[in-house]
Amino acid sequence: MSEKNTDVVVIGAGPAGYVCAIRLGQLGRKVICVEEGNLGGTCLNVGCIPSKALISAGHFMEHAEHASAMGFTVDTPTLDLSKLIAWKDSIVTRLTGGIGMLFEKRGVEWLKGSARVKDANTVEVETADGLVVVKARDIVIASGSIPAGIPGFEFGEHIWSSAEALSPETLPKEMIVIGGGVIGMEMGSFYAQVGTKVTVIEYADQILPGVDPELVKVVQRKAKKLGVKIHVSASAKSWKPLGDGLSVAVEISGKTREFSADKILLATGRRPRTEHLNLDICGVKVDSRGFIGVDSQCQTSIPHIYAVGDATTGPMLAHKGSAQGLVVASAILGQGGAAWDAQVVPAVIFTDPEVAMVGMTEAEAIEKGIDVKIGRFNFAANGRAMSIQASDGLVKVVTRASDDTLLGVHMVGPNVTDMISEAAIAIEAGLTSEDITLTIHPHPTLSEVFMEACEDVHNLCIHSAK
Ligand code: NAI
Repeated sequence: MSEKNTDVVVIGAGPAGYVCAIRLGQLGRKVICVEEGNLGGTCLNVGCIPSKALISAGHFMEHAEHASAMGFTVDTPTLDLSKLIAWKDSIVTRLTGGIGMLFEKRGVEWLKGSARVKDANTVEVETADGLVVVKARDIVIASGSIPAGIPGFEFGEHIWSSAEALSPETLPKEMIVIGGGVIGMEMGSFYAQVGTKVTVIEYADQILPGVDPELVKVVQRKAKKLGVKIHVSASAKSWKPLGDGLSVAVEISGKTREFSADKILLATGRRPRTEHLNLDICGVKVDSRGFIGVDSQCQTSIPHIYAVGDATTGPMLAHKGSAQGLVVASAILGQGGAAWDAQVVPAVIFTDPEVAMVGMTEAEAIEKGIDVKIGRFNFAANGRAMSIQASDGLVKVVTRASDDTLLGVHMVGPNVTDMISEAAIAIEAGLTSEDITLTIHPHPTLSEVFMEACEDVHNLCIHSAK
């Protein structure tokens, strides 16, 4: 056993933990970051980054098909799967290596091992060289989340989580995706683009529950074009091996149907990874689902123990975790006023086409009793969208009727995951839809679609004959 002393120990090096550790290091605190896997957490290793690499490869197959409309003759592309996976892995390695380099530059020590809390100032770490006891003034828990299964469906050879789906050795001929949420629809679209027959089983009455149904329609239409079969209000009940593959019993409208495939991708949500941390020993309050409750400074029920990222209540999004990591760093440094005060957290989904949203949906605003005015504009009427052969989609703007304040912006279409940041700034700054129309948007760009949707709120849209 050995002992170390530090100012702060951060448990977990995902986007919440590593951002917090680097900021503390930048500002002169002595920091140890405990991580048992690779630096970067789920996001960099088996989440956001590798999935986006595969998804962009899927788009490439499609672009090649579109090239003929531009006059090119392109043979049907064939895929060397092992090269694709190696390329994806090289991106992951570059990014995780980058965090190691940033840790070194900022004086953050990476302690590779598995941590558990012993008391409010002590963390025990099982490392390859034995137990290390770390004494710290402050503790930050950034232990993330893991895939949550459903009863009767254990992850294994036949049933993949998103992690296995990101590193296939061969492409399944047929795949059943259980859960038509973010992971199910992102990964399902990729597999369909590279030739797998995909069937999505979704429990709710629409795929991507919570997303504005007008946006969902566009994603669903494109998925259908790719050959994806979608069953909503459908519940996966059980599965059994069948020949080399398997079959799944699914209840749809009170009747049980059997679906067969080579693999299942189980994407029914994630759960916080907190049970191994011994949090009850030191009195940190965790709810019945394992989420740690935090205040506006991300402080838990125990002073000097903070929690950030997927382990805390709220959306499981990397950028939310990183923002919390920065709040905690400021709080630890005693920078008065450091608090989580984001009005909105934008969300992005890399389906085909992409979805991005920030703020209230129309339905949420109406439910709150707000009188709303809506503006819409289609990418089909935007020159830039036509020039990149990506004119499916729309931007929908929700404003408060009484004073034109932007309440929500919902986008489906090309590059909307980048475009949404303008809308997030607008809502954070309390801008009106008129403010957006009075801001000159460069031509020809996709961003004009947001401007025209804002013009549409006032029925003053130039490029619409509505
Ligand atoms: P999710 O919560 O987005 O979707 C899970 C879906 O499974 C839901 O639609 C639910 O109705 C359905 N479901 C549950 N049980 C079912 C059953 N028995 N039969 C059929 N359907 C069932 O969770 P997902 O997709 O696993 O993603 C996990 C987390 O990771 C989410 O919080 C998501 O926001 C986050 N994430 C974010 C990404 C991004 O920001 N682009 C990318 C990937 C994940």
